Amino acid sequence: MHAALRVITFCALFMANTLLLFAQTLKYGKPPNVRNGERIFKTTCVACHASDGRGTPQTTAGFVRPDTFPDFTRCDQTTPEPNSVWKDVIVHGGPSRGFSKIMPVWGKLLSSEQIDDVIAYLRTLCTNKHWPRGELNLPRALVTEKAFPEDEVVISSAVNARGAPGVSMDIIHEQRFGVKNQIEIDVPLEFQNQNHTWYGGVGDTTLALKRELFSSLRSGSILSLQGGLLVPTGNRTRGFGSGTTTFETFAAFDQLFPTNTFLQTQVGADLPRHTDIAPQSIFWRIAVGQSFAANRGLGRLWSPMVEFLADRDLTTGAKTNWDIVPEMQVTISRRQHIRANLGVRTPMTNTTGRPVQLMFYLLWDWGDGKLTEGW
Ligand code: HEC
Repeated sequence: MHAALRVITFCALFMANTLLLFAQTLKYGKPPNVRNGERIFKTTCVACHASDGRGTPQTTAGFVRPDTFPDFTRCDQTTPEPNSVWKDVIVHGGPSRGFSKIMPVWGKLLSSEQIDDVIAYLRTLCTNKHWPRGELNLPRALVTEKAFPEDEVVISSAVNARGAPGVSMDIIHEQRFGVKNQIEIDVPLEFQNQNHTWYGGVGDTTLALKRELFSSLRSGSILSLQGGLLVPTGNRTRGFGSGTTTFETFAAFDQLFPTNTFLQTQVGADLPRHTDIAPQSIFWRIAVGQSFAANRGLGRLWSPMVEFLADRDLTTGAKTNWDIVPEMQVTISRRQHIRANLGVRTPMTNTTGRPVQLMFYLLWDWGDGKLTEGW
């Protein structure tokens, strides 16, 4: 391995280790009191949210229930929301996240501890503890895939900044089903300038299934496995596709630390059916990042990250390709369901023929609202 990369890897591992020591601290000044939270809920919130937390029925509500009106007993609705989202809405009122103004501001009437208590009580209303919690849904990196199952559409593109002119764009649809599963469809579009002529076309389409195997909010960790097929929809002679069906599998392990520092790792393999035209390969990726939220942890989220990407063909004498990608993700909408990320991917080894790329994505977490909502 290249000496510089050895240093980078060492630093990344060292940081990860140090951070692990800090895990399991912070979060609350004192542990929340669920009974106190229940008392507050049953005196202050019941008028609209009903004593069972399902929300008062339309007939008695006295207001038009928004489509997003929560039923706190439904784990599928509540578990994707991190506590910080609820806290923002309770402290600052619905409009703070682009929700209805019928949801009042409580920040002046209730203390921060009291609000933590109510949230802890609301969490008891979802009784199935197998749902992974939204806190573990870390900011999406440009390349490294995350462990959390998502309801998301991402349009991701890479433009060659140096090397042969070319643009690629991936249209990715991810959808959850059941408690722990997600399907993914990724259709790449490629545009390349070959001998002064631009060619465009689809690349190899991915159809994949992800399943969360383990997640724990207490330790801040989540582990998933994904398996999928890359269908040879791309034109091989143009270099847009491999010409053979490839089975791709990976494991993703993500770790969140109480300081809002996070580590996302992904290790996998591409196993083509016809190895005479496309070699088997393995890849491993690490994203290290830190989230900073404006407005005392409740507002716009900025997440700088660095990814270290490696892949290697499983053929004798093949060299490992290493790339580094510094990037910044930022939330665009108030609801934080629309986000953007911008970064630069630079090859560190085997640089011949591998371009420096400007990478960008726009992401829509459609589980959290329509494109027009939440601003
Ligand atoms: C006057 C009626 C009313 C009262 C009182 C009220 N809420 Fe709400 N609340 C709403 C409405 C309506 C919504 C849905 C807003 C939307 O989806 O646009 C809501 C939404 C919420 C949400 C959901 C945010 C999300 O991400 O989906 C939380 C959490 C919440 N309320 C907590 C509370 C708590 C805690 C109290 C008591 C301290 C309370 N509410 C009191 C009307 C009320």
